[in-house]
Formats: sequence, structure tokens, C-alpha cells
Amino acid sequence: MLKKLQNFSFAHYFAVFYIVGLSIVASLFFTNITLAKKILKGQFQASRVINIAGRQRMLSQKLSKASLAINFSSKQEVKKQSQEELKDVVQLFQLSHNGLQWGDSELGLIDNNNSPIIKQMFLELEEPYQAIVKATEDLLVTINSDSAQRNISLFIEIILENEKIFLSKMDQIVFQYDYEAQKQAQQTRGIKNFLLIVVLLLLFLEGIHIQKLIESQKQATKIATELEEKNQQLDLALKEAQSVAKLKSEFMANISHEIRTPMNGLIGMTNVLLETTLDPKQRNFIEIILESGENLMVIINDILDFSKINANKLELENQVFNLRECVISCLDLLASQATDKELDLLYTIDDSTPEIIIADVTRLRQIVINLVSNAVKFTNSGEVAIIVTSEEINSNNYQSPTHQIHFAIKDTGIGISPEGLKTLFQPFSQVDSSINRKYGGTGLGLAISKQLCEMMGGQIWVESRGHVAGNPVITNQKNLVCANSVTVGSTFHFTVLTKTAPSIPKLD
Ligand SMILES: Nc1ncnc2c1ncn2[C@@H]1O[C@H](COP(=O)(O)OP(=O)(O)OP(=O)(O)O)[C@@H](O)[C@H]1O
Ligand SMILES: [Mg+2]
Repeated sequence: MLKKLQNFSFAHYFAVFYIVGLSIVASLFFTNITLAKKILKGQFQASRVINIAGRQRMLSQKLSKASLAINFSSKQEVKKQSQEELKDVVQLFQLSHNGLQWGDSELGLIDNNNSPIIKQMFLELEEPYQAIVKATEDLLVTINSDSAQRNISLFIEIILENEKIFLSKMDQIVFQYDYEAQKQAQQTRGIKNFLLIVVLLLLFLEGIHIQKLIESQKQATKIATELEEKNQQLDLALKEAQSVAKLKSEFMANISHEIRTPMNGLIGMTNVLLETTLDPKQRNFIEIILESGENLMVIINDILDFSKINANKLELENQVFNLRECVISCLDLLASQATDKELDLLYTIDDSTPEIIIADVTRLRQIVINLVSNAVKFTNSGEVAIIVTSEEINSNNYQSPTHQIHFAIKDTGIGISPEGLKTLFQPFSQVDSSINRKYGGTGLGLAISKQLCEMMGGQIWVESRGHVAGNPVITNQKNLVCANSVTVGSTFHFTVLTKTAPSIPKLD
């Protein structure tokens, strides 16, 4: 299971990692391709610009050549041709000049594509350019007038003068275009190379990471296998321990049961012996034997109960009985001990408590007797009281109602220290060994009572010296005596769930 989960999460992580890595690499790759396209496009654009810029040089030369031909050729035909050429060239010259500065889609020049330096250079070029254009246009207009010869020479002079300046400035512009195109291509190539290195690096890192992932997965699988093996071993050990504990409890239960038979014979025969004629000394000895035998029986019974509960062999019986009579019989049993210590034994049963209930009367008596006998045992003056209340916790028309009966056994005795409270309900735990030596007992009473309460659907807890131990039923607020209010002695509480017997009427 652990392994499956681990494999699933690893595969999931691996897939996500792989997809993310590949996506990054792919996007970088596409960026690279786009950059390469951009470089090509840029270079193509730059070469076109450089071409046209170069052509401007050539056109300006053509202008000078054609104008000279008009001036110096004696043949009318050549003059005519040169005039036509001049017209076409000046038009193309202007078109190209404007296109280079502001862009021209027909020439394939992008709008406003010049750097500030080139813009500045064009500004400086403007003067010779305008002069050449103006002189050429004027030349074309005045070519057939009377004063033509004088003016043509003037215009040609202007054209030739400005052509020189134009050529050198245009050269500079062409160089600048070339320089900028190369620089841009270099930069883009640099970015492209950088991205290529990043892609390679990423692929390399991904490879290393995947390698590490596979290794750690192997490691994790190994650990998971070991853990699973250890878990299985622990499970096995736990099962063994549980079966050993069960065997032990069964053994204890059997042994205690076996001891009870001869013990009964011993106590019975001792009782018979006491009825015979004995001198006072012999009677005293026999009475001591009887008392010791009875004490031993109590201890054996406790061990038997405890072992039976632990071996899951104790079964509760459902008997219909009178709750008040049960409480009174418990008090009767302990009355002589209380009288010996001059303690008052009291009980109250809340009016709402059903008198006839269905539960295991023997086990309920066992709990009450243990708690009351403890209270009497650990109280030197004052009183021991049993307070019984109840709460109906479910009632419907089809079933007889269930009651949670709450018993509080309150004493004015020595109380229990907060330290003692911590282990109170554990088997064989006795708070003060010196006191217990005086009173005897095995320390099993409360542990048995706790288990019996739980088997009867209830809980047990105690309040003493302002502290609480056990599992208080907090829903039943009205039955809870405030822990801080118990400053003298102790109050043991326990609850059991019972059904009322519908066939038997309530007794008053
Ligand atoms: N009402 C009480 N007042 C003070 N201490 C108590 C009271 N009830 C129980 N104790 C303490 O809790 C310990 C455990 O009680 P528990 O009934 O389990 O054993 P026990 O009475 O010593 O022996 P056993 O009931 O097996 O004969 C007692 O030894 C005592 O120290
Ligand atoms: Mg006891």
C-alpha cells in the first residue's frame, strides 16, 4: 500500500517535472527560432536599405552626368534623351530619399525605422539634397527658354557642387546603416546563442535531476520495503504478545478458578469446625484461619474477575431487579465496618430514577461495594454517602427507554493526592503503600470497576482535592459535582446504561 502510494506520487511528480522541463525547453527553442527569423528579416531589411542608400549615390552621379550631357552635347537627340533621363532619375532620387527617411511600402522600407544618429545624418544631408533636386527641377523647367544657356550652366554648377557633399554624406549614411545592421545582428545572435546555451544547460540539469529522482525513488522503494517488512514483523510480534497476554489471562482465570474450589472447602470446613466444642484458644486460631481464608478468597475472586475480563471471557447477564434494594443490600454488607469506625452510611435516590431496571445486578453490586468499601476503608470520621441520579437518554415508542444511571460515592476521608490520581484506575495501583499495608487489598478493585463500567456502557471518574481523574461524563452536567468543590475526602462517580423493565411497574 505504502509502496503503491509512493510509486504513484513519484510517477506523478516525475510526469509533471518532465512536462514542465520539456515545455520550458520547447518554448526556449521556439524563441530561438523566432530570433533566427528576426535576424534573417533584419539582415534582409538592412541589405535593402543599404542597397537603396547606395543607389542614391549612383542616382546623384547620374543626375550630374545627364545634366552635363544636356549642356555639352551638340546633338539634339542626345539632349532630348538626357532630359528624359534627368526627369526619371530625379523622381526616383526623391522617392528613394523620402522612403529612406520615412519608409515606403512599395520600396519595401519600414516606416520610421532609422536610429537617432541616422535621422541626424539625414538632417545634415537635407541641404545638399534639396539643392540638387531644386537645381535639377529648375534645369528641366528652364531648359527650353531664351536665357537657357546661362542658367543651365548655373544649375549644373550647383548640382556638381552639392553632389560632392551629398556623396560623402551619403557614404557616411551607408556606413552607419551597415554598422547598425551588423551590430543588431550581432546582438540578436548573442541572445540566440545565450538561449541555446540555456536550453542545453536545462536539458543537462533535467537529466541530472531525473537521474537523482530515479536514485531517490530506488532508495525510497528500498526504505518502504524495509518499513513494510518491519511493520509485518511488528504486527506479528503484536499478535504474539496479544495471544501471550490472552493465554496468561486465561491461565490466571483457570488457576484462580481452580484455587477457589479447595478454598471453598477450606472455609466451609473451618465454619463447620467453629460450630464444634472448642476451647477459647482453639476458637481464636480457627477464627484467624477463617478470616485469612475469606481475605484470600476476595483476592482470588478479584484476580479471577480481572483475568476473565482481560481474556474476554466475562459475560454480563441481564436481570430485572430493584435498584433501591440493590443499593441498600450493598450498604448493609458494609454497615458493620462503618459502625466500627463510627461512620454514617447514607444514600439518596433521585425521584426521576427508575427503580426497576435491567442490568447485571451482581456486577453492579461489585462496583458499588468496591467503591463504598474503599470509602469506608479510607475514611476515619464523618460519612459515606451514595447519591443516585439518572437521565433518560433515548426514548421512542418502539423500545423501552434507556437510562444513564449515575452513582456518586462521596466520603469525608483522607482524599487522594494529584499524583495518586494519575495511576488510580490502573491494575495493582495503590496510592500510599503504608496506608495500604494497614488496610490490605490488591489494588485491583478500581481497575475491575472501570472495566465493568465500560462493559455496561458507562464511565468512571473521581474528584478529590480539586482534581479529577478518569473519564468524566461531561454531557451529564447536572450530575457532575464541581471538581473544585470537593476539598474534603473524595467522590467517585460512575455511570451505567440500563433499560427499564416495561412489564414490571415502578415501585415507590
Ligand atoms: N475513597 C478513597 N479514598 C482514598 N483513597 C482511595 C479511595 N478509593 C481508592 N483509593 C486509593 O486507590 C487505591 C486503589 O483502590 P482499589 O480499590 O483499586 O484497590 P484496593 O482497595 O487497595 O484493593 P482491592 O480493592 O483490590 O481490595 C487504594 O489502595 C487507595 O490508595
Ligand atoms: Mg478496593
